[in-house]
Amino acid sequence: MPEAKTPLEPKPVRASVCEYSEFALPNDANGFGSLLGGKVMHLVDLAGAMAAMRHARMPVVTASIDHMNFLHPVRIGQLVLLRASVNRAFRTSMEVGVKVFVEDLLTGETRHTSSAYLTFVALDEHGNRVPVPPVIPETEDEKRRFEEAGKRRQYRLELREGERKGV
Ligand SMILES: CC(C)(COP(=O)(O)OP(=O)(O)OC[C@H]1O[C@@H](n2cnc3c(N)ncnc32)[C@H](O)[C@@H]1OP(=O)(O)O)[C@@H](O)C(=O)NCCC(=O)NCCS
Repeated sequence: MPEAKTPLEPKPVRASVCEYSEFALPNDANGFGSLLGGKVMHLVDLAGAMAAMRHARMPVVTASIDHMNFLHPVRIGQLVLLRASVNRAFRTSMEVGVKVFVEDLLTGETRHTSSAYLTFVALDEHGNRVPVPPVIPETEDEKRRFEEAGKRRQYRLELREGERKGV
């Protein structure tokens, strides 16, 4: 695998922050008039990938998505708002945190509906994994997420190992 020739310049979390929003439309509804969970997951993947690419300035693929809870339904006609940023970069992989909110455009009420952690891996044009810049956590929250990302990564890699062995 190709290695970077020069050390990668660390970047603050704020450099990767990405905001994305989409109007909930009827063709993405379940039988109860709410947005399909899978549509929300799709938007989470997109917002996460944008934050990862903004950090790495390279194409990325999704290596894993941690579990997601759907705390409130998103009604058709409401706005889905997503906020993503890179919590921590390892070597070629990055943990991205994505928060999902729903805004009722008529009342202005906004509620947090889901959160997720995703891991993205940076690839070059030949599909080879490439190192990404380290993350500099600046705020207290960013420092906490940075620390916790290390523990979550260990857990994910243990799960992956189990899946590879078929357990
Ligand atoms: C993700 C992928 C590139 C990993 O490749 P690999 O040959 O397994 O390589 P590695 O084991 O060296 O993993 C590369 C990095 O990703 C990390 N990683 C891989 N799978 C992971 C997982 N499930 N959770 C957390 N980190 C993971 C590794 O720890 C490593 O991180 P590091 O370089 O920062 O230390 C490869 O499995 C792949 O291409 N998967 C399909 C991706 C895809 O198509 N996604 C869209 C959904 S279909």
